[in-house]
Amino acid sequence: MIVITGATGKIGSKVATQLLAKGEIIKVIGRNAEDLETLKTSGAEIAVGQMSDVQFLSTAFTNAKAVLLMLPPDKDTLNFGALQDEIGEAQVQAIINAGVKNVIFISSQGAHNIEHTGTVKGLGRQEIRLNALPDDVSVLSLRPEAFMENCIESLKLFDTIATPLRPDVRTGLIATNDIANFAAEQLLSLNFHGKTHQDLLGDRDYTQTEIAEIVGKAIGRTALKYVQYSYEEYKKYMMKIGMSESRADMITERYKAINDGYFNNSVRNRISTTPTTLEYFAETVLKPMFG
Ligand SMILES: NC(=O)c1ccc[n+]([C@@H]2O[C@H](COP(=O)([O-])OP(=O)(O)OC[C@H]3O[C@@H](n4cnc5c(N)ncnc54)[C@H](OP(=O)(O)O)[C@@H]3O)[C@@H](O)[C@H]2O)c1
Repeated sequence: MIVITGATGKIGSKVATQLLAKGEIIKVIGRNAEDLETLKTSGAEIAVGQMSDVQFLSTAFTNAKAVLLMLPPDKDTLNFGALQDEIGEAQVQAIINAGVKNVIFISSQGAHNIEHTGTVKGLGRQEIRLNALPDDVSVLSLRPEAFMENCIESLKLFDTIATPLRPDVRTGLIATNDIANFAAEQLLSLNFHGKTHQDLLGDRDYTQTEIAEIVGKAIGRTALKYVQYSYEEYKKYMMKIGMSESRADMITERYKAINDGYFNNSVRNRISTTPTTLEYFAETVLKPMFG
């Protein structure tokens, strides 16, 4: 049996669907039974509870040959880093209690740096905790770059592509579908050993100006222009839409870290490069929503 945390989320839901299609026995974790209903109908066992609850997780992980772990975002918590640590520690303790031997963790590009990378610092700390598990536990931390799905949020919030990144900064964007494909393959083959990480990148890098141009063209708004917010303006806006100051600070710090080059350590090669282009994503996902 394979356990999937964050199973109603962008990556977890796709991994769960793929594993079910391959006939795997899976257990999916979330906080609401109703939100897990579709996966239950498709054959998944469901476990409803909080990922900060060690007892709940230990029971949920029992008899798992592998677990897909993620640390969830939470816009309300007063101290986002402390929440990441609380959930991360609960996950590690549950892995020990249940005797899980194979773990895939959805980390992030930038997780090698736990000083400057905002929301990603907590993912880096979780990699360190997982890498300290005994030798007979294999851990693969996936380090994807920013998601193409972030464009959906940006269009909803700002009616354009807007972040504190400099317009000329080149970043990649990866489709969560490609992350899920990679994670599902690894969970099926369990062909990873020891404590390792894998960079996961989109098809190529784009400047922020190019990202806005590609998105604008696909949704029929060729005049759409990239907008750079100052760090302070961006943080204030995040708080205005209901985010805690702690998370708004960390999201802003992540953008500053990208501007300052702290995310530039991913290795692009045949394995880390994934197929979905932004043009394809914009045409198939953004155009039906915003076109
Ligand atoms: N966005 C990016 O550009 C980017 C880039 C690299 C890495 N990442 C990382 O990717 C991860 C996000 O993955 P995703 O986008 O697939 O997730 P997502 O779509 O944001 O979904 C979050 C999932 O976490 C679950 N969840 C939230 N709080 C929970 C709790 N207290 N207990 C149990 N379950 C809880 C939610 O389930 P319910 O609400 O149903 O309970 C949901 O399934 C984050 O760690 C993020 O830092 C993001």
